[in-house]
Amino acid sequence: MSDPAQVVGTRGAEPEAASPTSEPCVLLIFGASGDLTKRLLVPALYNLACDGLLSDRFALLGASMDPLTTESFRARMSEDIRKFHTRNTFEQSVWDDLVARFHYTPAGFDDLGAFQRLKSEVAELDAAQGIGGNVLFYFATAPRFFGLICEQLYRAGFQDGPGWKRIIVEKPFGTDLASALQLNRDVLAHWHEDQIYRVDHYLGKETVQNLLAFRFSNGMFEPLWNKHFIDNIQFNVAEAVDVEGRGGYYDSSGVLRDMMQNHMFQMLAYLCMEVPGSFDSHAIRNEKAKLLEAVRVYTPEEVQRYVVRGQYGPQLDDTGHVVKPGYRQEKDVDPNSKTETFAAARLHIDNWRWEGVPIYLRSGKALWKRGTEIIVEFKKAPPVLFRNTPVQEIGANRLIFHIQPYQGIEIQFQAKVPGPTLQLQPVNMRFGYGEAFKASRYTGYEVMVYSCSHGDATLFSRGDLVEAAWRVAQPILDDWKAAPADFPNYARGSWGPTAASDLIERDGRRWFEVLTDDVLKRVTIFKDGDPLFLSQVVLALRADVVAAGETIIRKGDMGREMYIVVRGEAEVHDDDGRVLKTFRDGDLFGEIALLIHTARTATVRAKTACDLMVLDHASFSRILHDHPQFAASVLQIARERYDLTLHPESLTAAARR
Ligand code: BG6
Repeated sequence: MSDPAQVVGTRGAEPEAASPTSEPCVLLIFGASGDLTKRLLVPALYNLACDGLLSDRFALLGASMDPLTTESFRARMSEDIRKFHTRNTFEQSVWDDLVARFHYTPAGFDDLGAFQRLKSEVAELDAAQGIGGNVLFYFATAPRFFGLICEQLYRAGFQDGPGWKRIIVEKPFGTDLASALQLNRDVLAHWHEDQIYRVDHYLGKETVQNLLAFRFSNGMFEPLWNKHFIDNIQFNVAEAVDVEGRGGYYDSSGVLRDMMQNHMFQMLAYLCMEVPGSFDSHAIRNEKAKLLEAVRVYTPEEVQRYVVRGQYGPQLDDTGHVVKPGYRQEKDVDPNSKTETFAAARLHIDNWRWEGVPIYLRSGKALWKRGTEIIVEFKKAPPVLFRNTPVQEIGANRLIFHIQPYQGIEIQFQAKVPGPTLQLQPVNMRFGYGEAFKASRYTGYEVMVYSCSHGDATLFSRGDLVEAAWRVAQPILDDWKAAPADFPNYARGSWGPTAASDLIERDGRRWFEVLTDDVLKRVTIFKDGDPLFLSQVVLALRADVVAAGETIIRKGDMGREMYIVVRGEAEVHDDDGRVLKTFRDGDLFGEIALLIHTARTATVRAKTACDLMVLDHASFSRILHDHPQFAASVLQIARERYDLTLHPESLTAAARR
């Protein structure tokens, strides 16, 4: 399920003011008493109604095994909408009008009589509202019921009569290749492919839909979109949440099934597919299918070489006590579970456009930061021109699609640092949805219901696409099932197993870490920073690696850097070599040196190899110089917090040198 945090709308106009409403229909939801209906579907319908996008000729009929009545269903939904609506203010009159169109009938899915009753009710609602026979069936149930419901609908005669009949099916669509093939057979036994709308909620995200708009409405990128100019592509879906009480489901799934085979492969297809002949759903989905079919299906040897898995263990404090449980201790999880909660892979796309370009994917739960990003890293400019200049290294250009929680697109490039000598610094151009468009919050399901009602299947997966994705995932599943897993292999709240870094470093590359404001805000001096200031700080961070045992900060030295541990462990030692504290993934230290030129008060040594991000005083001063108002507040915080005697000039001194 998506979280309701999408930014949509159009600057200067009411969102979608010019769009037609959804087509008239009866929406028959199976599993209407469940979570999906109250958290996402009903809030989405309410958003459509608020924005004038829901047809007046609309009725909802809920069905599930729960013995509710229309009245109790309406009462329950009226209570839940208060919790789950996504708008700033609640519009009671819109809701009153909407909920009056909700109805409910208890139905066991194996009871044909219940389906016949549903059919008469749909006919009554249709006649009362003059709908014309359109019915949208929404399967918000466990997948094991999909085939059965399809059959019962058919046996009850729902396919007959005027108007369209369309079925929206929630994920997961199969648990492996064989079950997906079977499910497609079951569903298509009585219904046509163009009546089946398989949801992948990532396709409902504005930032994911914009991948296509960005690629195909901007002439400047397409010529570069191939192996001649792109060095590698990274897909990163990091979740800080754990399995959130869904251990029963998750333990039979794992991240490969839960995130990669569906959501990540959909994004991969959008980003890497060929240019379609038109924006028609068939044309787009044909290209997506072709792309997924070009992803190499690995042999067992290739699985071992190119894919790694992980499972989170408990989070421990410095004294070794469990702060939060590991995956195997979660409710409804097998205490010896081999299910992976993290995976990283290098994929190969065996076609002309992408041959030889590594495609890296990484996703996991219980990580130290949340963020979904796609990083397109271009080949570097030849360094030859800078041979006799102070420039030591030229960074890569990157195009970063920030999918969530920050929603935007960013281009990174090098610029000359103002001054008499030739020095380069990475800078960026950034578009943020929140700043460019009038913001309103959608759940991501509005567009699903809306486009399905219009018969637009672009945002839904197709049978052959699902099967192609399973074909890539299957050998990995097989290999993991057969081989023992050395789990747990990463601590909750860390950046996953070290094998994930080894995987990419073997190729002479590194994961590109997107750090967001919230990471910086963990230290007091940044806590009140505005977004522009913080984004400049993030850009000024440079990656560094230290080996186990190496000293990062030495007591008494005049260091001028702040460090963020991206991955690894670093220990603070006292004079006798005792460990006072351990910094782990996500921790920041040394920030005092950004403010004052003073000797380090303790030694910090890498316990394991560490990936760090480093901010130096000179860069920080330069940023403060451009944000004088913020320099004053940093000063104030520093005085209060660290009891320092600072002068404003000392903070921005480096900028004037
Ligand atoms: C779901 C998965 O499909 O997607 C969840 O079952 C996962 O495990 C969720 O947390 C992530 O969605 P989003 O929109 O928060 O990235």
